[in-house]
Amino acid sequence: MTPLPQRPRLGFFVSHRGSNMRAIVSACQVGDLNADPALLISNNRGSAALDWAAENGLAHLHLSPKSTGSDEALDQAHLDALVDADVDLIILAGYMRKIGPKVLSAFSNRILNIHPALLPKYGGQGMYGSHVHEAVIANRETESGVTVHLVDGEYDTGPVVDQAKVPVLAEDTPEDLAARVLAQEHQFFSETLVRIVSGEINLDDLG
Ligand code: GRF
Repeated sequence: MTPLPQRPRLGFFVSHRGSNMRAIVSACQVGDLNADPALLISNNRGSAALDWAAENGLAHLHLSPKSTGSDEALDQAHLDALVDADVDLIILAGYMRKIGPKVLSAFSNRILNIHPALLPKYGGQGMYGSHVHEAVIANRETESGVTVHLVDGEYDTGPVVDQAKVPVLAEDTPEDLAARVLAQEHQFFSETLVRIVSGEINLDDLG
């Protein structure tokens, strides 16, 4: 892949809330992260992320298999939108679908996902939201955390870029743990992106 530009343009994929996207946009705005938010794509017309993008001047698109006609057409529509917006780096932050083969190939080693646990534990299909934290507590883990990883064609299996640990306390409910992990996510995703943009982490060494 061509090296990332000094100030990459970010394309977000979000299905629901979008708090990680907002944290990253904010890091760009205050100058902590040398990158430009370029586009939000959501498969969920009613997502809070789309509402936020509309209110905050971030280009946004609702694209789904239903709106485009098929998974193949959706993949092509994603690619067209990403190319039109001149996106350099794709950020999956709570995106509940797999990325299609055309986008995976055009953005090889340029798609990142955040997962609210220490992969390879507690990942894969069905391991999202409260399911992750319930499983961590049921297994009496003493630590959980956050993983930023490169995206491949499966759920949560691409090479790990970096991880941050979060303690699990004996009295934690899944909601307590979710809140502690999410707070760490908001900080850690931006910090990891800073290291990627500065060249400290080279994504092409991982994929
Ligand atoms: C986060 O916990 C992230 O790790 C997972 O989905 C959640 C998205 O939350 N992949 P938000 O939409 O960023 O608030």
